[in-house]
Amino acid sequence: MTRAYYPQSRLRRLRQTPAIRDMVAEHHLNTGDLIWPIFVIEGSAKSEDILSMPGVSRLSIDRAVDAAKKAVDLGIPAIALFPKTEESLKTENGEEAINPSNLICRAVKAIRKHCPELAIICDVALDPYTTHGHDGLLDEAGYVSNDKTVSMLVKQAQTLADAGCTIIAPSDMMDGRIGAIRGMLEQHDYHNMLIMSYAAKYASAFYGPFRDAVGAGRKLGGEGKKTYQLNPANTDEAMREIAADIAEGADMVMVKPGMPYLDIVRRCTEQFEFPCFAYQVSGEYAMIKGAILNGWLAEEQTILEAMMCFKRSGASGVLTYFAPEIAAILNR
Ligand code: PBG
Repeated sequence: MTRAYYPQSRLRRLRQTPAIRDMVAEHHLNTGDLIWPIFVIEGSAKSEDILSMPGVSRLSIDRAVDAAKKAVDLGIPAIALFPKTEESLKTENGEEAINPSNLICRAVKAIRKHCPELAIICDVALDPYTTHGHDGLLDEAGYVSNDKTVSMLVKQAQTLADAGCTIIAPSDMMDGRIGAIRGMLEQHDYHNMLIMSYAAKYASAFYGPFRDAVGAGRKLGGEGKKTYQLNPANTDEAMREIAADIAEGADMVMVKPGMPYLDIVRRCTEQFEFPCFAYQVSGEYAMIKGAILNGWLAEEQTILEAMMCFKRSGASGVLTYFAPEIAAILNR
């Protein structure tokens, strides 16, 4: 390509007015890009603050239904539900995960009834249900046992499919879980059930506030989730994880955390012709919101810019706790 240089070319010509800047914008924000994660608790007419996530609450099912209606009104196409399980229901092996009338299944049914057009994403992982807070089942040595966990996750996925969710989102990082879940779905005639796999999920400190929110505690000692979640030092390995999940039957993949990992999103979208989502996780939310509340960052510009960065990296959409705020701004 032949290029002209200054003064034939003045790159600032394209930046001189809002109209011109808009004409040449390479990316645009849309409410359709947003997925809103919502925390659910037992009870009715209840909304509990989460200390480390100011502005985000845990909602009883009736309130979660209101939030779902709000999502529909705002043009948000999907929500992701996360339960805060009562401590008394947690066990070593997380059996509550496969109870067809557990909190999350009741929430899915209620939301499905009131908002049939809304996509409902449900996490597959045992951490909301285990006393130890790991995503899987432990062997005698305290190691998260892969294959035993996968059989439990398959049952959990079936429980969620039966409850009527739209998208199953395995967030556990066990090997072979996508193939096993896909096999179960095909066998049970769930031919159209979507799988959004948390394919490149890193062992990250940025999940801290989420663990407070779902009451998984920060009780994981020692290695934490490092024996199953990715090492933040690696990108090639993330590509192998994504390739495996696609081969095993995922419809969409996800990179998580979000903003510190945009290089992974970019590499994913370049290497695989596949919808790739990013999760702006609880710690990212807490950092931005904390700075906004201190008056250190300007709210609207900051959350829109962060969203634009995700789009620029090639993400098909973003899971973000700012979803309703962003949608309200975009709808103005
Ligand atoms: C559960 C799960 C986690 C998140 C989503 N699903 C936490 C974890 O793996 O410890 C994190 C989301 C967030 O931080 O916003 N497996």
